[in-house]
Amino acid sequence: MNSIGIAPAKIILFGEHAVVYGRAAIAVPVTQVCATVTIAPSPQSEKDNIHIQANEIHLDSEFADLEQDHPLASAIRAFQAYTGIENIPACNIEISSTIPVASGMGSGAAVSVALFRALADFLKHSLSDEEISRLTFEIEKIHHGTPSGIDNTVIAYQTPVYFIKGEAPQTFNLAYPLHIVIGDSGVASPTAITVGDVRHAWQVEPHRFEAMFDAIGEITCAARRAIEEGQMQALGQLMNDNHAILRDLGVSSPELEKLVKAARKAGALGAKLSGGGRGGNMIALAPPSKIDDIAKALSAAGARRAICTIVK
Ligand code: MEV
Repeated sequence: MNSIGIAPAKIILFGEHAVVYGRAAIAVPVTQVCATVTIAPSPQSEKDNIHIQANEIHLDSEFADLEQDHPLASAIRAFQAYTGIENIPACNIEISSTIPVASGMGSGAAVSVALFRALADFLKHSLSDEEISRLTFEIEKIHHGTPSGIDNTVIAYQTPVYFIKGEAPQTFNLAYPLHIVIGDSGVASPTAITVGDVRHAWQVEPHRFEAMFDAIGEITCAARRAIEEGQMQALGQLMNDNHAILRDLGVSSPELEKLVKAARKAGALGAKLSGGGRGGNMIALAPPSKIDDIAKALSAAGARRAICTIVK
């Protein structure tokens, strides 16, 4: 029987970048797109032969032939080291994902989470969400420099989280579902680069950047209250405020600005870039009656695609 692991994408509602410096952030899973890993036993192939296939990245290789630091090789080895399972029986690992890459939706973390889930099932070694999150964080660290841990957390737990680096994630209740329209700028922007650039700027001007991180932390805290109390207008304004500071941090882009403006003009209660920035995605808080108008406005303003998601 095949073993299957599935993991959703994520978006950050509030607090990206500042979360790397210990301030709070809010992230939610996006189940409309996902990473899927299927492991099929291949008893007739050579002993312990692990074949890996990921069509989207044109990968078709034996595990033994992957570079030492390849993310998939690192993940399989991390799983083996953690569980103490030395021999994985001959199998075919197939990886696919509908999550746009380098767009702030956690595609790398989702592949790791899906892979750990599939391996756990294949090897009959149960792993908790917390363990999967921790293992994924180790892979994120190898490949993304200094991640806060929010991506692996929200993707492994698959629930909205209020997150502070180094602390257990907090879950919270929403007074009403949030209708979010996600607009993809179509510009690939690896998070490691924007995180590195912000770090460099923070080193040059620590006081100015710390003050901006504090302001984002306060916005995130107020946003949690607004979500819990169902104050949608206030929540939209907080999104706009957060976006203005992200722009000052230097992580917006002309494409993102255009999409954010188009969403607000089409009736969004608020809009901001989401994730590392400079490209990738922006999000808009939509009154339910305006979802279609906002999605159309985003496409007209150049979005490669618009995904509508409901956060509950
Ligand atoms: C990436 O999804 C969010 C950032 O804050 C980086 C991180 O928290 O690791 C930009």
